[in-house]
Amino acid sequence: MIRVIAFLSLFLSYATAHLPYLDSQNSHNSIHTAFSFPDNVYSRALLTTTTCPPRFYPHGNKTHTPPSGTHTKPWSKYSWSKVDVRGDECLHFEFGVPHLPALEYPSFRPTVYLVGECLPSAAEFGYPGPQTLEYPPFDLPYNLRGASALRFHLADPIWQPSKFYEPNLDATLLSYLNYSVPVTCSGEVYIVVETHEKRVVEYYVAVGEVEGLPAGGVPAGIATLAEAQAWAQGADKRVGRYCPRRGIWERE
Ligand SMILES: *[C@@H]1O[C@H](CO)[C@@H](O)[C@H](O)[C@H]1NC(C)=O
Ligand SMILES: *[C@@H]1O[C@H](CO)[C@@H](O)[C@H](O)[C@H]1NC(C)=O
Repeated sequence: MIRVIAFLSLFLSYATAHLPYLDSQNSHNSIHTAFSFPDNVYSRALLTTTTCPPRFYPHGNKTHTPPSGTHTKPWSKYSWSKVDVRGDECLHFEFGVPHLPALEYPSFRPTVYLVGECLPSAAEFGYPGPQTLEYPPFDLPYNLRGASALRFHLADPIWQPSKFYEPNLDATLLSYLNYSVPVTCSGEVYIVVETHEKRVVEYYVAVGEVEGLPAGGVPAGIATLAEAQAWAQGADKRVGRYCPRRGIWERE
């Protein structure tokens, strides 16, 4: 009985919100480890918490090798997710951050990119909208050689977030991007977030418009409501904290 009630309340809360996926260590930090949204239909959000560069991260020092015995995890200031969109569909995507004092002073405004071969045209977004980049500012694998990119430079004050209260998470969030735009052909769209911060930050990327559970019930890999709430409410004490000054930052 308790299990049934627990499941029911889980269902009710998921039925009215994005299905949450948690990445508390920014593990989707390259195109090869991009988070793959299962479809472009159901509304799902990837909740990311970034990390500080590891102790021996070679800040652009190609000749640097970490002392033997240390295992440096690959680290990057990017996070990647992707969704497969059919040519007759719209890409619905959102970007925002939890409204936490630790991320507000100074306000956290990263750069967001869409990368792919079938992107919507910049004009579809209206105002404010992204800039078209002829070449994506990333190294892309050969099969994406035809890709272009759109850049949302959120540091620009034309971008004003809309603040909203999310009752399921009992948290307030700032929504910077929220668009539904037609793509130009069938293909994968990559959503890339680049942070310029020297502190730990949180943000969400969401796709899909249909709120509720897909047929087949609660999908594998989704976060519990308690985990999503803790994320949105800034329970992780790392959030907002400045990274230790090391390496190249030491010289700035
Ligand atoms: C780059 O790394 C090498 C080997 O660890 C080190 O000797 C050198 O001082 C570093 N250069 C800079 C500019 O940090
Ligand atoms: C995003 O846009 C949709 C459609 O305009 C709207 O219903 C929704 O409330 C918006 N979400 C946020 C977080 O502003």
